[in-house]
Amino acid sequence: MNLLIIHGPNLGFLGKREPGIYGRLTLRELNSAIKKHAAAKKARVRVFQSNCEGRIIDLIAANAAWADRLIINPAAYTHYSYAIRDAIKASGLPAVEVHLSDISKREPFRKTSVVKPVCVKQIKGLGAGSYLAAIDFCLLKNAKKTQTPV
Ligand code: DQA
Repeated sequence: MNLLIIHGPNLGFLGKREPGIYGRLTLRELNSAIKKHAAAKKARVRVFQSNCEGRIIDLIAANAAWADRLIINPAAYTHYSYAIRDAIKASGLPAVEVHLSDISKREPFRKTSVVKPVCVKQIKGLGAGSYLAAIDFCLLKNAKKTQTPV
């Protein structure tokens, strides 16, 4: 199982950025936890972070043939990027949308996810655990291989 994992804008500030909301792990530490968890489950990962919408789209396109699943935290783009939504759809990859925080319990603008309809699952509010749960979800034997939401 090849997992493409993409962190969106401002996630490079993890550790310093609103730790009460996003936790104290740095992106480097989060990525180590992701890689360790994936390795324990015999999954291969490619992990990227970008602050740029176009770069995120290019990463999805460039890695779509390699990947079996996409795990993406589009960060603020979650709430308004139809371009990233279209890229997820176009990739054909079953995608899991993840968030460190629970976006349903924050400011009103965060309650909308424009990518949710093109993802098979949304996992939020578990901190780093959201990514680990997304890996576990991708590895479920009966997890859908299509983009149909579950
Ligand atoms: C986030 C939630 C978004 O609303 C925010 O813009 C982020 C991070 C999360 O992981 O909780 O940058 O996606």
